[in-house]
Amino acid sequence: MKIAILPGDGIGREIVTEAVKVLKALDLSFEMEFADVGGVAYAAHGHPLPDATLKLAKQADAVLFGAVGDFQYDNLERHLRPEQAILGLRKELGLFANFRPAICYEQLTHASSLKPELVAGLDILIIRELTGDIYFGQPRGRRTASDGHFPGADEAFDTMRYARPEIERIAHVAFQAAQKRGKKLLSVDKANVLETFQFWRDVMNEVHKQYPDVTLEHMYVDNAAMQLVKAPKNIDVLVTGNMFGDILSDEAAMLTGSIGMLPSASLNAKNQGLYEPSHGSAPDIAGKGIANPLATILSAAMMLRYSLGKPEAADRIERAVKKVLASGLRTADIYSEGTRKVGTVEMGDAVVAAL
Ligand code: IPM
Ligand code: MN
Repeated sequence: MKIAILPGDGIGREIVTEAVKVLKALDLSFEMEFADVGGVAYAAHGHPLPDATLKLAKQADAVLFGAVGDFQYDNLERHLRPEQAILGLRKELGLFANFRPAICYEQLTHASSLKPELVAGLDILIIRELTGDIYFGQPRGRRTASDGHFPGADEAFDTMRYARPEIERIAHVAFQAAQKRGKKLLSVDKANVLETFQFWRDVMNEVHKQYPDVTLEHMYVDNAAMQLVKAPKNIDVLVTGNMFGDILSDEAAMLTGSIGMLPSASLNAKNQGLYEPSHGSAPDIAGKGIANPLATILSAAMMLRYSLGKPEAADRIERAVKKVLASGLRTADIYSEGTRKVGTVEMGDAVVAAL
């Protein structure tokens, strides 16, 4: 088994170091190989996703990814920006299914901006389609308006589109995930306005026929955004397109009070996967040793479960994290009175000890 380790920018290196420490403590035999990605890769090799990094990621059974992006790269041309690395990896590896759990840990209920009773025990699984939609649809670009849309003005445009197989495969992933949980699936779309998402809804209904044990509900995205803060516990598995999933998964993450706790998995048809924390590179706190490594450590657990066939090891890590939280250790992002504030390294050490 080979794991490609891509720490990236900002706090990426610090948090990935802790996850690697936890993986090594498991005493399983896998090979780990490191490569540059994002801004650091641009600085060292002139491209955010160098060929060598892409090649390593393709060969590996799984990729453990930190985060990309830093202020100093914000003005680069779009194709050289750090974000292109993660978009490129998703596309090149065909990672169409993105799992973003939003779990409210018992000890962190108070950290949510919502009333504790609304979020206590919250456990939502967001499944975001990751390689289609307006993120990747062609054509896109800038041009001098030529179709009389707004006479005389130049314009920018992107294309929202989904082909049937793209919707079908994410639908199967979502129905199967729902079968393993509460047998209830919420599909989020904008079928009242967009042709793309009327098609999405139609295909969801067709695929549903193969999963009669799962209840399928549809909801418009604006209403879903509202329900997420009104009664989030009514939602179990939520499936949606790339852009709505980007937005709703950040919203759902915030319900748990701590985006620093949330892992994610992006899988392709071969169960090869890329695992990364749901949060970003947080350049403002990079190098300070205060970032929360738990989202990355929990991403490593997801990697063991989904791509490396080691579910017991994944359980061990998840139990260890809960134990550490129960013991009262907190990084700054989840700190509250009466708990003990620790740094990145100390938190990683505590998880290793709790294994
Ligand atoms: C995410 C991020 C990315 C996205 C960016 C960095 C390209 O926001 O993983 O949610 O929009 O998908
Ligand atoms: Mn996002």
